[in-house]
Amino acid sequence: MLDVLPQWQGLGAARALVAAVAETARAEGAERLIVATTNDDLPALGFYRRPGFTITGVLVGRVLEHHGGVEPGFAGIPVRDEIQMELRL
Ligand SMILES: CC(C)(COP(=O)(O)OP(=O)(O)OC[C@H]1O[C@@H](n2cnc3c(N)ncnc32)[C@H](O)[C@@H]1OP(=O)(O)O)[C@@H](O)C(=O)NCCC(=O)NCCS
Repeated sequence: MLDVLPQWQGLGAARALVAAVAETARAEGAERLIVATTNDDLPALGFYRRPGFTITGVLVGRVLEHHGGVEPGFAGIPVRDEIQMELRL
């Protein structure tokens, strides 16, 4: 989970955390970081795109099945799908 409290967003906290994880993973020989978000999460999609994460897969209906029904997400967008992304290190 990556979640920055609203009053601290936009200050570079998440960017610093992901950069530190990438540096540690690279030092340990990892070749990629894998993350997942949901179809409604426009802030996360924007955030992960900045350091170079690319979409590698979309599991259509995965979150819908997990929740057992439609739930409203960011900006009221129905949460339905899992979006998988990766960053090559
Ligand atoms: C997504 C989230 C983690 C970003 O945290 P943050 O600390 O505000 O992000 P930062 O200030 O470190 O921003 C880093 C970069 O991402 C960009 N960014 C941040 N939020 C963005 C958004 N909503 N849309 C587009 N770009 C965004 C910033 O412009 C910044 O770009 P830069 O490196 O070129 O300056 C935060 O908005 C959050 O906690 N959201 C709710 C929970 C969530 O969606 N978590 C992810 C679940 S997968």
